[in-house]
Amino acid sequence: MTTVIKNGTIVTADLTYVADVLIENGVIAEIGKDLSGDEVLDATGCYVMPGGIDPHVHLEMPFMGTYSSDDFESGTRAALAGGTTMVVDFCLPSPGQGLLDGLQMWDNKSTRAACDYSFHMAVTWWGEQVFNEMETVVKERGINTFKHFMAYKGALMVNDDEMYASFKRCAELGAIPLVHAENGDVVAELSAQLLAAGNNGPEAHAYSRPTQVEGEATNRAIMIADMAGVPLYVVHTSCEESHEAIRRAKLAGKRVWGEPLIQHLTLDESEYFNPDWDHAARRVMSPPFRNKQHQDSLWAGLQSGSLSVVATDHCAFTTDQKRYGLGDFTKIPNGTGGLEDRLPMLWTYGVSTGRLTPNEFVAVTSTNIAKILNVYPKKGAILVGADADIVVFDPEKEKTITAANQQSAIDYNVFEGKHVKGLPRYTLTRGMVAVRDGEMLAESGHGTFVKRAPSGPVSKALSSWKELTAPRKVERSGIPVSGV
Ligand code: URP
Ligand code: ZN
Ligand code: ZN
Ligand code: ZN
Repeated sequence: MTTVIKNGTIVTADLTYVADVLIENGVIAEIGKDLSGDEVLDATGCYVMPGGIDPHVHLEMPFMGTYSSDDFESGTRAALAGGTTMVVDFCLPSPGQGLLDGLQMWDNKSTRAACDYSFHMAVTWWGEQVFNEMETVVKERGINTFKHFMAYKGALMVNDDEMYASFKRCAELGAIPLVHAENGDVVAELSAQLLAAGNNGPEAHAYSRPTQVEGEATNRAIMIADMAGVPLYVVHTSCEESHEAIRRAKLAGKRVWGEPLIQHLTLDESEYFNPDWDHAARRVMSPPFRNKQHQDSLWAGLQSGSLSVVATDHCAFTTDQKRYGLGDFTKIPNGTGGLEDRLPMLWTYGVSTGRLTPNEFVAVTSTNIAKILNVYPKKGAILVGADADIVVFDPEKEKTITAANQQSAIDYNVFEGKHVKGLPRYTLTRGMVAVRDGEMLAESGHGTFVKRAPSGPVSKALSSWKELTAPRKVERSGIPVSGV
């Protein structure tokens, strides 16, 4: 069976041209004029683009005493409904648990994914087992990214010495470290002070995480990565202070990437001052939404290329789950949805407003991250031989976003009432039509795990745990004299 997408305009990160696309066995077999196939998809008036890649989602994640409510089935259906054809979830071993043990859990829960997916591995503690298993994770399991939480003190947070050791290990494995950059010690201190002063509502969440905690942590992570000789990917960059650190690092020739979220680009801190507790709590996430000045900085970063990727950090909790934090904002599960709405929202607020070109839209929703994660051109491309992960995007199709019509399992949508213009006519996952004119045809279990080879420059032999942790003799002055 072959499928042909006819009469559309192909838009990639660097080209715009009119051609048909022929698909066979899940991959793009031919691109050209007047192609024919068994099944014909009419793309008249549409843009034919690489399907979106969302590199930051948390599906069925154990977090803050509960589990995020979208699992791999509902989450990937939401992705496909919005034109996203690959997601990258975070495998999160608990502190003390082995990485391979954690992976087994993530393998088990991802079997019903409807689109292709991959994992980042989180380093939530440090020890010889983690050190050793990182090699297996990269070389045998095809995971080339390791996530470090600089916040969530007492739960997922790692300290600087652990981060530095893990970054060095990433460097020698050709893997890329990721950071959630917020100063967890300061957040914990501010949270305690706010609670003690009687500020227990959702707005205190925003006060507990000012932009400085993010700017400080981003700077620190960049410097630690530089000392470890490894690139760095900063997730959910939400403010000018963090963006500024990334911009400066790039100017100095460092490989550092920043990832704003569609929520931070389009929603602001006033959401936390809504008198309806549920409204505000549903929008509690870390980092919190910021003011317009920070939003402008993020848009400028996408335009200039100092920020590279737009993601969602999709981590959806129901209103009932959010209410765990009634009377204590630190117990509101952190996270918002967005998977289904990322492309339509970015098109409406980015392309239709003239901030981004259609080619830049493809770059920041798909191609840039495909290259960073080393899955290009299997993903993120319209090229012969690439997977037929394609969104046929109709710039004239409109809707008002509402939870009533969403794929996500939760009972609200943070973009409720937003009018979007620009929606998928078809979404194809490896050649299979998963969405046709708003009709959901996705098949649970169709998604496959995408292995990612190491991408960084791997130059030297691997160290042993003993070498990495060799005892250091330190003189009274504090200056190390041997063993470093
Ligand atoms: O608030 C958020 N972002 N929740 C998901 C976990 C994380 O920090 O990415
Ligand atoms: Zn995070
Ligand atoms: Zn996240
Ligand atoms: Zn299938």
